[in-house]
Amino acid sequence: HPPLRVAVLGCGVVGTEVVRRLVTEGDELAARAGARLELVGVAVRSLDVERDPVVDRALLTTDAESLVEKADVVVELMGGIEPARTLVLRAVEHGASVVTANKALLAQDGPALYDAADAAGVDLYFEAAVAGAIPIVRPVRESLAGDTVLRVLGIVNGTTNYVLDSMTTEGLGLEEAVTEAQALGYAEADPTADVEGYDAAAKAAILASLAFHTRVALADVDRVGITALTADDVTWAGRTGHVLKLLAVAERARTAEGRDGVLVRVQPTLVPSDHPLAGVRQAFNAVFVEAEAAGELMFYGRGAGGAPTASAVLGDLVSVVRHRVLGGKGPVESSHADLPVLDGGEARSRY
Ligand code: NDP
Ligand code: HSE
Repeated sequence: HPPLRVAVLGCGVVGTEVVRRLVTEGDELAARAGARLELVGVAVRSLDVERDPVVDRALLTTDAESLVEKADVVVELMGGIEPARTLVLRAVEHGASVVTANKALLAQDGPALYDAADAAGVDLYFEAAVAGAIPIVRPVRESLAGDTVLRVLGIVNGTTNYVLDSMTTEGLGLEEAVTEAQALGYAEADPTADVEGYDAAAKAAILASLAFHTRVALADVDRVGITALTADDVTWAGRTGHVLKLLAVAERARTAEGRDGVLVRVQPTLVPSDHPLAGVRQAFNAVFVEAEAAGELMFYGRGAGGAPTASAVLGDLVSVVRHRVLGGKGPVESSHADLPVLDGGEARSRY
């Protein structure tokens, strides 16, 4: 098969690792994907930023729009809503497959993007958008498509888990711990998205949409972040046999009138210290899925950081290239829209 042209949008924490793997493991990736991946350019905001030497400066451009037009596959790793949204739409309109790690974009505009990709007959893959390296999107979207998911419960933000863990075990203050998480490449460009729970809420919305075959937006998620938590809260949690975690919960629920729907929330939660989620340390993530036939499933791994996230991005890249080489495309986002998202106040959980 002739080589496929790959454009990478963004060369930060994740983009740099993706470029590194494309450059250093090109033969291996080509063998797995069924075609050579020719890196045709890397879009950045500024050409003056110092970069890892693995990134060939000749490939850098600030003209992301033109780059997208010459690619067969676009890997969007710039983050934020615009220009990422316009570039992803332009890519699919040009017939390019897209891989993205952008949960903020998907939680806001996922349905429009999935529809555009579907209409164009191309793949839009986003395994890295939820829980970094952990394979969770594909299992929920594909492996559990024949089951009925009842509840999804998880630690899906590495930064806040790192911060709460550092406060618990090292006695660090919130600000100090956030600075460490930023230095380690876990935090969003604006860490407010992490500590106020927006990032976890975006991931919860994506997971809930897939798990319950309905459309859940960021605005539908009840959200409380960790900024109000103090060292005293953490100490008190420990003294009462708990660990404080920022938990995302998405579950089938029923109103007092018997109306079925989905309830999605993110909030600091006291987890009993003998519960498996209590042992999720540092920037690790974990997701529990309870399904009618499968029962309980648990997914655990690195939820943030350049190399772990690049692992998920490259897995998607290999998949979409295989589809292009073999013909056909991956699963379409299925939304029956038969489960409305309930307001937390009117719903009562069945569990
Ligand atoms: P960074 O902030 O480290 O990198 C962003 C990159 O995008 C930079 O290279 C920046 O250019 C470029 N960029 C930003 N805006 C533009 C623009 N308008 N035009 C061209 N280039 C632009 O982000 P991360 O690598 O941490 O995250 C990337 C994506 O991956 C985000 O969607 C994030 O949510 C997601 N993600 C991140 C994880 C992590 O652990 N970091 C884990 C999972 C997902 P320049 O270098 O010139 O500033
Ligand atoms: N900022 C995110 C986190 C990156 O801390 O989990 C991974 O999505």
